[in-house]
Amino acid sequence: MKNQLFIYALAALAMGQACKNAGDYSKSVDDYLQLDSTTLEIATVADSLQVPWELAYHKDKLIFTEIAGTVKQLDLKTGKVKQLLHLTDVFQKRSTGLLGIAVQKTDAEHPYVILNYTTKKDSVISSKLVRYEYATDTLIHPTQLLEIRGNTAHNGTRLHLTQKDIIYWATGDAYDFPTAQDSTSLNGKILRINLDGSIPQDNPIPNSYVYAWGFRNMQGLTIDERGNIFTSEHGDAIEDEVNHILPIHNYGWPLFEGSYDTRTEAEKKGSTTAFTAPLRTWGPPIAPSGLAFYDHDIIPEWKNSLLLGTLKNQSLRILHLADDRKSILSEKVFLTNRYGRIRAVCVAPNGDIFLTTSNRDWNPQPGFPKPTDDRIIRLRPVKKALKDNLLTEDKPATPAKVDGAVLYKNYCASCHKEDGLGVKNSFPPLKGSARVKDSNSLLTIVLKGLDGKQAIDGVNYGTMMPSFAFMKDEELSSLLSYISKQFGSGTSITANQIKQKR
Ligand code: HEC
Repeated sequence: MKNQLFIYALAALAMGQACKNAGDYSKSVDDYLQLDSTTLEIATVADSLQVPWELAYHKDKLIFTEIAGTVKQLDLKTGKVKQLLHLTDVFQKRSTGLLGIAVQKTDAEHPYVILNYTTKKDSVISSKLVRYEYATDTLIHPTQLLEIRGNTAHNGTRLHLTQKDIIYWATGDAYDFPTAQDSTSLNGKILRINLDGSIPQDNPIPNSYVYAWGFRNMQGLTIDERGNIFTSEHGDAIEDEVNHILPIHNYGWPLFEGSYDTRTEAEKKGSTTAFTAPLRTWGPPIAPSGLAFYDHDIIPEWKNSLLLGTLKNQSLRILHLADDRKSILSEKVFLTNRYGRIRAVCVAPNGDIFLTTSNRDWNPQPGFPKPTDDRIIRLRPVKKALKDNLLTEDKPATPAKVDGAVLYKNYCASCHKEDGLGVKNSFPPLKGSARVKDSNSLLTIVLKGLDGKQAIDGVNYGTMMPSFAFMKDEELSSLLSYISKQFGSGTSITANQIKQKR
């Protein structure tokens, strides 16, 4: 008997398990996070993945997508990862690929699984919504529900499937901004769809999938048990949003963005269209991604909150909601730069929280990817931390006096990188650029932005660069002088020069 126990213990060790109960599997415990009174254990439950983009919980398993076109299942009891499906018609480049997944909440033997991915046929990119059946260790019987315009960027997507079998699909503007204001187009919208692809009878606009509009590129979607819909959205490199979605409301893009009053927004102020303001905005951008509503007693500090993963700021944020869930009362930031880009957030029925990292995508940040990336990590309460050096809430640094290097890091480095070398074929280098060496053209570009239509040193980037005219003269002066010193001719650019150029 003793021997047998010893063998069991060895077997458990060999499997890398610190098992107490079923579902407690972990590969490694990486950190402990101390909240006011709760201690959370942060453990890796799967690693060596390729950009796990979205995950859904189903009966002790997580079903997740990887951007290049695979759907996998992680058995939370054993830690086994199994491939369920490999799609061969996925178009994957930069942010396109196999993105959203939602699993039907049912006890039926073969629940439906909804997938969204981009495809390319004769140079036309589209974004497909496809339904599968989840059989033992595989997905079968694909049925296409809907196909909308896609592009090389701004495809969204997040999916949510309700208890009543209604699909909500948060789509992107497919890089064609006006389409978000066109209520007859399906891009830049929240769409509401039946499981067979038909239009629900009780949609707010008869015979239309459109539920709400005016969106740029949503990256998070969650619905609470009262039916409140929340989304996260990437702004135009200046302003990110979390929105509370109401039927046939217009969320403004591209006419209005966030709550900044940039000049174009101010000009539009006389507009008669009623726009719905975000619950919260961020600038400089944090690139908000996966969003999940949390209301479990096991982490009382996070009850009645939205959990938000971020890509640029690489953090987990807790947005505390008011009791009526119509406003955000406070925001707390955790795990900044600890695990890299956080792409997806999922809450299991027992209150465990699962996050995916996205450090092997097209835009990794300094220090990443780590050898075991990408990972799925789990946060759950424990009685006692088994390590010293507990992580705690990240307090925002007190805003220092205007500093060009900090401004560069906050507003430019996510695309042009800290070393100014950019990302090949995606973002041009600033270092050595003739237009950066010439203060006058540098100033014009930053004040006016670029439309992505002209080739730069023989490369057609095809992506616009936003205007940064919302920044103050003094800020721009120290930012541009910094850029000039680091990457250009070294000439200082004064606040007065900027004022005259505006
Ligand atoms: C969201 C990504 C993004 C951010 C953030 C961004 N840029 Fe750019 N930038 C681009 C893209 C894309 C281009 C190329 C646009 C084109 O092809 O028209 C570009 C081009 C430029 C160029 C022209 C380079 C050349 O050689 O012609 C300059 C200068 C520049 N950016 C400066 C900045 C500065 C300064 C900041 C920060 C205040 C910044 N950018 C922030 C994406 C970005």
